[in-house]
Amino acid sequence: MELFEIAGGSRLKGTVQISGAKNAALPILAACILCEDEVVLHNVPDLADVRSMLTLLQRLGVMSERKEDGSLHVRVEDEMNCHAEYELVSKMRASVCVMGPLLAKRKRAQVAMPGGCAIGVRPVGLHVQGLESLGADSELIGGDMMLRAKKLRGTEMFLGGAFGSSVTGTANVMMAAVLAEGRTVIESAACEPEITDLADFLNACGARISGHGTPRMVIDGVTKISGCEHTVIPDRIETGTFMIAAAITNGELELHGGRLEHLIAVVDRLRRVGVNIERGEKGIAVSSSRRLEPVELTTQPYPGFPTDLQAQTMALLCLADGNSIIVEKIFPDRFLHMAELNRMGANLRREGGTVIIHGVRRLIGAPVMASDLRASAALILAGLIAKGQTRVRRAYHIDRGYERIEEKLTAVGADIRRLPEQD
Ligand code: EPU
Repeated sequence: MELFEIAGGSRLKGTVQISGAKNAALPILAACILCEDEVVLHNVPDLADVRSMLTLLQRLGVMSERKEDGSLHVRVEDEMNCHAEYELVSKMRASVCVMGPLLAKRKRAQVAMPGGCAIGVRPVGLHVQGLESLGADSELIGGDMMLRAKKLRGTEMFLGGAFGSSVTGTANVMMAAVLAEGRTVIESAACEPEITDLADFLNACGARISGHGTPRMVIDGVTKISGCEHTVIPDRIETGTFMIAAAITNGELELHGGRLEHLIAVVDRLRRVGVNIERGEKGIAVSSSRRLEPVELTTQPYPGFPTDLQAQTMALLCLADGNSIIVEKIFPDRFLHMAELNRMGANLRREGGTVIIHGVRRLIGAPVMASDLRASAALILAGLIAKGQTRVRRAYHIDRGYERIEEKLTAVGADIRRLPEQD
């Protein structure tokens, strides 16, 4: 295992190139199961989660190759295997995105249920409910969800749950509906930019999807889809993380490729904190040189404040001049980073899904433990400004979703090193 060692206190300055979006690339790769011809993808980030998805696809007969120019060429070669095994699904929950495409293209899907993870309970009831509405039969056997359908038929469905829409649930149902007979209408569809990117990809392959990016999505089924060349959108969560890196270090960063329009709620909150955010020539310009004001924020489905930036924003608000409040409405138990931030001198108190952040003057470096991807990012951000040395153990969490984070941070002046971890 590896860890990150950070010496806090450097002011970040310079340019960061934002990578392709993990959460757009993963369902798009799963959607390749549907395609008759070769798919050429640009801007697919080289991440542990992407490599896990490519391994799963390979076992499902979908071959891929990275070319010298960085493009990823994907092609279906064998349609026999329909089983996503627990060994891979338990490693990466987004593996569940193969369920819809397998069912639609191969008439059956056997997908191990992912179970919970460090951010809380992660059900897939909405995925299965949506696929059943299209005509699938489902059965849970030995921890695997088995779905079968001779034919899928378009229908109208409501896909909202207790916590709002489901991102990968919408992706699964949309991918299956592409090859269903007739029209499918999904009410309460997820509106995240990653869903829009998936729909754009599918349409470029010959699907007929409209209304993506709104809560009412309409999919007119086609008999087959071909392949296409597609460029994955930039990662809005990586962009937001680097915005906070600039803010927490009183720095100045240009985030090339970052899209302001995907981060409206985040920009609104960060500006209230006192961070300067402008549209730059090639992306977003972020700077901060003032004291940080406290804010209140609630995580919500898009276009609300993303849960995937909750932990990182909490790290920033630890240093605000006053009391802030964060309400987590998507994953009410996604707070494992709190205890670690408190070890670094933060003053955080939790009441159910709400955290009260009493701002402190400074954080102090400490050995801390990463628990999940975004929590690790928060600990790295805290380490950038903490006095002294911070060691973030279990670096593999960050490698799941941030491409070469230590290289990107070092290039703009951070003192961060990846070291082997002794148990
Ligand atoms: N939910 C249900 N029933 C379901 C599915 C979801 O009640 O059948 C609930 C969840 O428990 C949660 C809410 O609905 O309270 C939203 O969950 P959603 O299904 O949208 O999450 P997801 O699709 O499993 C994706 C991202 C997550 C991100 C969430 C929320 C991918 C691969 N993953 O997960 O990303 O946090 O949406 O925006 O797109 C990450 O990148 O670190 C990450 C965890």
